[in-house]
Amino acid sequence: MATQQPATRPANPRFSSGPCAKPPTFELSKLADAPLGRSHRAAVGKAKLKDAIEGTREILGIPADYRIGIVPASDTGAVEMALWSLLGQRKVEMLAWESFGAGWVTDVVKQLKIDAEVKTADYGQIVDLVSVDCNNDVVFTWNGTTAGVRVPNADWIADDRDGLTICDATSAAFAMDLPWDKLDVTTFSWQKVLGGEAAHGVIVLSPRAVERLESYTPAWPLPKIFRMTKGGKLIEGIFTGATINTPSMLAVEDYLFALDWARSIGGLEGLIARADANAKAVFDFCDANPWIANLAEDDATRSNTSVCLKFTDDRIQDGAGFAKAVAKRLETENIALDIGAYRDAPAGLRIWCGGTVETADIQAMLPWLAWAFEAEIAAQA
Ligand SMILES: Cc1ncc(COP(=O)(O)O)c(C=O)c1O
Repeated sequence: MATQQPATRPANPRFSSGPCAKPPTFELSKLADAPLGRSHRAAVGKAKLKDAIEGTREILGIPADYRIGIVPASDTGAVEMALWSLLGQRKVEMLAWESFGAGWVTDVVKQLKIDAEVKTADYGQIVDLVSVDCNNDVVFTWNGTTAGVRVPNADWIADDRDGLTICDATSAAFAMDLPWDKLDVTTFSWQKVLGGEAAHGVIVLSPRAVERLESYTPAWPLPKIFRMTKGGKLIEGIFTGATINTPSMLAVEDYLFALDWARSIGGLEGLIARADANAKAVFDFCDANPWIANLAEDDATRSNTSVCLKFTDDRIQDGAGFAKAVAKRLETENIALDIGAYRDAPAGLRIWCGGTVETADIQAMLPWLAWAFEAEIAAQA
C-alpha cells in the first residue's frame, strides 16, 4: 500500500474551512488602494462600500429590489441581527443538522425564549424538509459547514409562504446556486468561499423581510449593532454603504479584490464549477478507497465546499485519536493545514473545496492522505 511518500506536493496546503484559502492570485500588495486612515464616511470609503454591495449583487445575481447590507461581527452578527429583529411575530421552525444550526436553535429558544418547533438531524443526515411549514418563520443553514451536509434544493420552500425564510448561507454563497425568490434573509461572511477577511457579515433582505422589519417591533430591546430600522422605517443608508459602525477598509479592499477575481474566473458559474471539481476529486477518492467515506449519507446532500470525511476501517482503535494523528501528519509535512473535523463534529477530516482552492492541489493532497492513513495504521499496530 501507499507507505512511500508521494512525489507531488500541493502548491498551497491551505484547506481550512474558515478563514478559507485566499484567491490564487492574491498578494498583499494588491490591497494598496485601500483608503487607510480615512473615514469610511468620506466619499472614497463610501464608494468602496457601495462597490462591495453592488459587486455582491452582480456576482450572486441578487434581485435589484433586495437590500444588501455590510454588518458587524461576520456571519454570526448577520444571523443574530436577523433573529433578534424579525422573530417573535409568528410561529418559528428551527432546523439544524450540525453545530452552527444548533447554535441558532439555542439563541432562539434559550435567549429569545421563543417556543419554537425544533427539528434536528444527526451529523451526516438532514431534517425532513417536506415537513417544514413555510407559513411559519423558518431558520436554517444552507450548508452545514461542520457536517458537510447541504440542503439539496429549495423545492420545499413554498412560493406563496406567509412566513420568512432566514438562511445562514455562509459556506454556500459563491459556491452554490441560491434561489433568491425562496430566501427572505440570507447571510454570509467574507472569510468563507471568497477567501476574504473575517470581521464583516453580509445580510441580504427580500422585500418581504423589509416589510416585516417596518411593521413589527420585537418585545425585547435591540442593541445598536442589530438595529436596521428607525421610527418604523428601514435605515436605507445601511444598504448603500453607510454602515452601522466602523468597518475595516482593508477588509473591504480585500473583498473587492476577491470579487474581481471571481469575475475573472467567470463569476458565480466559474466559482461553482471550481467547487464542484474540487469536491468531485474528493468524492472519487472516497469511492476508490474503502477506508474513508463522506459523512453525508445521501449523495444529494453532499457539500461541495466543506467536505466532511470519516474513517471506516475496522482496524482503527481510537477513532478521534486516529483522525487527529492523520491530520497532524499532513500538517507536519505541510501538505494539508487545518483539516481536522470541527470540535463538535464526529471524528474525521474536513477538506475545504470552495472555489479559491485549486483542483490540482486537492489532487496532489489526496495521495498524501492515503499515505498518512497507512502510516497511522502501521503506527497504531
Ligand atoms: C454555518 C456557519 N454559520 C456561522 C458561522 C460563523 O461564522 P463567522 O465566524 O463568520 O461569524 C460559521 C463558521 O464557520 C458557519 O460555518
